[in-house]
Amino acid sequence: MKILYVAGEVYPLAKTGGLADVVGALPKAFRSLGDEVRVMLPGYPEAMAKAVHAGEPIPLPDAMGYGSARLIPAHMPDSNLDVLLLDCPEAFARPGGPYLDADGRDWPDNPRRFALLSRAAALIGIGGGLMGWQPDIVHAHDWQTGLVPVYMRQWRDGGAGCVFTIHNLHYQGVFPPSILGELGIDPAFYHIDALEFWGNVSLLKGGLVFSDFLTTVSPTYAREIQTEGFGYGLDGVVRWRARNLRGILNGIDHDIWNPAIDPAIAQTYSADDVSGKAACKAALQAAAGLLPDAGAPILGLVGRLVWQKGMDIVLDALPEIVEMGFQVVIQGAGEPELEAKCREAAQIFAGRVAAHIGYDENFAHVIEAGSDVFAVPSRFEPCGLTQMYALGYGTLPVVRRTGGLADSVADVDEHPEGTGFVFDGETPADFLAALIRARELYDRPAAWAEVRARGMRVDFSWRAAAVRYREVYEAVLRARG
Ligand code: ADP
Ligand code: GLC
Repeated sequence: MKILYVAGEVYPLAKTGGLADVVGALPKAFRSLGDEVRVMLPGYPEAMAKAVHAGEPIPLPDAMGYGSARLIPAHMPDSNLDVLLLDCPEAFARPGGPYLDADGRDWPDNPRRFALLSRAAALIGIGGGLMGWQPDIVHAHDWQTGLVPVYMRQWRDGGAGCVFTIHNLHYQGVFPPSILGELGIDPAFYHIDALEFWGNVSLLKGGLVFSDFLTTVSPTYAREIQTEGFGYGLDGVVRWRARNLRGILNGIDHDIWNPAIDPAIAQTYSADDVSGKAACKAALQAAAGLLPDAGAPILGLVGRLVWQKGMDIVLDALPEIVEMGFQVVIQGAGEPELEAKCREAAQIFAGRVAAHIGYDENFAHVIEAGSDVFAVPSRFEPCGLTQMYALGYGTLPVVRRTGGLADSVADVDEHPEGTGFVFDGETPADFLAALIRARELYDRPAAWAEVRARGMRVDFSWRAAAVRYREVYEAVLRARG
């Protein structure tokens, strides 16, 4: 099969969260199965610098008012994965992040920036002859690429099939209807069964309505988003598409998240020989400024500091957590208020609680490897990758029973084959009850080692997920005839 992936971020060229990890890894899984894949993303400065350019740029016929835009064939620095960089300096060569400026504000022209990306993918999808390559499937991800199937529908109902994956239904790309003209979208799409959303335009809704097939990143989240509590106003649309919706649990990239070969950690280790983990723990304590104490269990947390992730629940429980003898290390960036609270906690509980505010890919590996327990107390979590990384690193997860957390961690007190601790509810007390169970198990080293070994052996490889995505791609091609 020929598959074009398109997203706003792809690891290792650009990353703000799990979306990048997924769009970096899934195409590699298909490539290793013999399929022909390409991955398109914006040519942010870092992406332009890191990718290995490999071929003549292909000019795009319409730069949407940005001066010039072109596609640069390239490949990943760490693998031979083929990449198409959308080089449009006026839209993407800016300081700051993929979606936000250096002060944390949305780029005001985000709809136009990502419409440009979506148009380029759609143009290849419909067989525009842009690069003499006709994919069978265009696989678009999240709101930034919601217009891909819209443009494809507008221009021509033919060419490739379009699969759209919801990584997070909460981020919807909602803008005033006045953007439609600037984006070159037929006003007929401003309609309740199309892009219209409460008097605005939702780019995500474009993906939900016009793709041939919808997927999301875990079976539980696929059910949750059909309910009002998780749908953020789009649950009706999701229910309407339920026959063409499938939840496929993400995998993890064992080339990158693997304690046996991880260059970022103090000592490598594996399920067969976990002895190196002790050195990783000592290294984490030293690097984070925690007291050197081999006996104290370390609770690690890594994530975006936003309401979704439930960091406030843990912060409110910190006195009790420290009282139980845990050391805590938090790494995250996001809402200034949460960042400040984390810093404050690290001051109050100096030596016992450490806060690493900012984005640091290497240190995320150091925390996964050096911690004993890893918490993901999210209010909702489409999939969540850090709990799966934790399992692989022999770090027992404590997670809320939602989305992919519920699908990837089995509670030790509920299942004979349990791998972690799962809690219901959203209060500090709910979280603490699970953490108490973790502490009790930690005090029984043989039982702890058994659960840890089981977690390290769970197979979260992308190969299993790729089999399911292939079924989806094949169903789309069959339905299109
Ligand atoms: P989400 O995509 O909602 O942020 P995921 O669990 O799917 O959540 O993925 C988060 C990814 O981003 C993981 O690879 C995690 O290690 C990484 N990450 C999140 N915050 C940070 C940070 N502050 N520093 C380094 N890596 C981070
Ligand atoms: C989103 C979700 C997260 C998921 C990731 C990758 O950012 O918030 O749960 O793991 O996408 O699919």
